[in-house]
Amino acid sequence: MLKGEIRKPIIAGNWKMHKMHLEGVKLVEEIDNSLDKNLDIEVVIIPPFTALRSISTVIKANQMKIKLGAQNMHYMSEGPFTGEISPLMLKALDIEYVIIGHSERREYFDETDELINKKLKKALEVGIKPILCVGEPLRIREIGKQKQYVREQLNNCLEGLNENYVHNIVIAYEPIWAIGTGKTATPEDANFMISFIRQRISKIFSPVISEKIRIQYGGSVKPFSIVPIMVQPEIDGVLVGGASLNAQDFSDIVNYKKKLKNI
Ligand code: 13P
Repeated sequence: MLKGEIRKPIIAGNWKMHKMHLEGVKLVEEIDNSLDKNLDIEVVIIPPFTALRSISTVIKANQMKIKLGAQNMHYMSEGPFTGEISPLMLKALDIEYVIIGHSERREYFDETDELINKKLKKALEVGIKPILCVGEPLRIREIGKQKQYVREQLNNCLEGLNENYVHNIVIAYEPIWAIGTGKTATPEDANFMISFIRQRISKIFSPVISEKIRIQYGGSVKPFSIVPIMVQPEIDGVLVGGASLNAQDFSDIVNYKKKLKNI
């Protein structure tokens, strides 16, 4: 079983455009207090840019286990790009992860696979671990073409990446129809698509790399739905939206193993 041995499970909370920076600090402290002390999974919180500095300071000062991620970055180190954030600026705040290509950025900010590919290359170059989001919209799911759709996204986004660093990528399979809708893919279906993604990684790179890359599920993950998702053999973690804004809900998701013992 490679999950848990080679691939450490990773649970991340994407706060999207929520939380003032002081609210963010409070939320991180609450989450940290409720974490199991012997936690053997990676916990990442991904607040908006304005909260990163304060939260980074609090994490360091209190030696928290929680890791920090950003929701986006530019593909250049610096330059005349008004309103953008450089990966080096993130690095300077000890930010370990960055979401690249979230479906909301693809849909509302016209991010293309080509742009996402540039960002992935840059993140790997500067040493920030990218969480690459892929997943199909409802119209594609309805005609049963989700594998083809995701295959195309992977081919385009992962093209020409440095094979020495590519194992640092985390992939999040987030079917768009399941995001913020309360509809989740069934755990078996999510496992099937994630297994398919792993096969593609094996083809694009190598079987060894495909065994190392962690693949998450995202889309309406809640405390009541976490256990059936995490027991799937191919699913290495989850990317949580709405439920990560509430300390109790997010902690219940992160501490899912407690429920596992009761089954
Ligand atoms: P929800 O958990 O709110 O559906 O959001 C999922 C998501 O988009 C995480 O990146």
